[in-house]
This record gives sequence, C-alpha cells and structure tokens, in this order.
Amino acid sequence: MMTNPIQLVKMLPPGLEPLLLRSMPPDHERAALSTKEKFLLMILSSLLDNNSIIIEVGTYLGGSASILAKVNSSNRVFCFDVFDDEKAHSSHSEWTDKYLGSGVVRSIDNVRYLLRGFKNITLTQVKDRGTTISNWRIPIDLYFEDGNHKDPAFTNNVNYWSSHLKVNGFMALHDYRPDYEIGKGRHPDVDRVVEELKNNTKWKFCGVIDSIALFQKLSN
Ligand SMILES: C[S@@+](CC[C@H](N)C(=O)[O-])C[C@H]1O[C@@H](n2cnc3c(N)ncnc32)[C@H](O)[C@@H]1O
Repeated sequence: MMTNPIQLVKMLPPGLEPLLLRSMPPDHERAALSTKEKFLLMILSSLLDNNSIIIEVGTYLGGSASILAKVNSSNRVFCFDVFDDEKAHSSHSEWTDKYLGSGVVRSIDNVRYLLRGFKNITLTQVKDRGTTISNWRIPIDLYFEDGNHKDPAFTNNVNYWSSHLKVNGFMALHDYRPDYEIGKGRHPDVDRVVEELKNNTKWKFCGVIDSIALFQKLSN
C-alpha cells in the first residue's frame, strides 16, 4: 500500500515550503486552503497512477482544482460547484474583485476562463447547494469534498461520491474542526461524519492536516 500522504506532509522540512509553493501553479493563491492543506492535495495527486480520476466537490475560484491538476497532467479533475455569487467566505467580494475584475460576479464561465490553462479540468455546474450528481459512471481514485458542509447535502455527497471510489482510493474531507466553536469555522455535520468514518471498518483513517481529514477506502 502506498505511503500515508498525511505522514509525508508532516515530514516535510519547513525549509522546503517556499520551494514547494513555487512549484504550484500561481492559481493556488485562489484556494481557500492552508499551505499544508495545499501540500496534501499536491502530494495526493502526485501519488496517484497516471490517468487517475479526481472528483472535487466545491471548486469556488478553482484554486484547489489547479493544484490537483498541475502535478500530473494525465490525471483528470472533474469539478462540481454551483458557480453562483454567494459568499463562500468573508473575503469573497475582495477575491472576486481581485481575480475576476471589479464588480464581476462569479459564474461557471469566468471560473472556466481562470482555469483555461488546465486542459485536464472539467467544470460542471450543479443546480443548487443540495444537489448531488446522480449519473456518474467512472471509478474514482481521489475524491475531495469541499462543497456544502451542512446536512443533508454533505452526507448525501459523501455517500454518493465515496460509493464510486475505488478500493484503495482516497477521500479528503475539508473543514473538519472539532475543536473550534460553533459559528467560528466549525461544521458539526462534517465533524460527525468524520468521527463515524473513523469507526467504520471499510475505511482507514489516515489522519488530519489542518482541517482536511483523509481516509482510504479498504473495501466496498
Ligand atoms: C469553501 S468553497 C470551496 C473552496 C475551494 N475548494 C478552494 O479551495 O479554493 C465552497 C464551494 O462549494 C460550493 N458548493 C456549495 N454547495 C455545493 C454543492 N451541493 N455541490 C457542489 N458545490 C457546492 C460553493 O459554491 C463554493 O464555491
């Protein structure tokens, strides 16, 4: 079985961080992730076999997708988002002004334009924040969940996409912060699902980097 990606991130010497950041696409600046979470996504994608299939639910302005896509251009990254202009975080307007242009609202077309250099990224617009895609057919190697953090959407997405994950495939769940206060970055549904999965024998709990909880599928 491949090395635990969480351990690889934890072992990175701090002196290597500037070099790793420089090796990322400039688009990584639009990712709503910590530096170590970015490294985890980069390492996860780089450990996959060529031609792997990656699913990202919650793409925002494409920062995390660019990291997943850049490290191995043979991998295909399928991104699902509402692509509307609802605030994803407190600096939303500053980010859209900076990356899309002053007063420009987020849409699938302008996120696609931002990601135009990545031929291995495919964007799909879901109809609303509760939507889970229902016609997926391709086995998945890596699933990154960073969309709606509230139930029922969160659990429905996790159940749906993890059912398409290959055995030994990885599932990364963002915004797991059991130690935070409610209303200050804590997402109780994410915390609860992570705790349940830790006790589920079908999954190996690989550990946590900042707020990403990583699991590897052991059986269907
Ligand atoms: C925190 S942001 C994602 C940040 C992104 N992963 C990054 O690191 O740059 C959450 C995103 O999830 C999207 N979203 C909310 N509900 C969703 C759903 N049901 N399916 C897909 N995306 C959803 C929002 O539109 C928003 O863009």
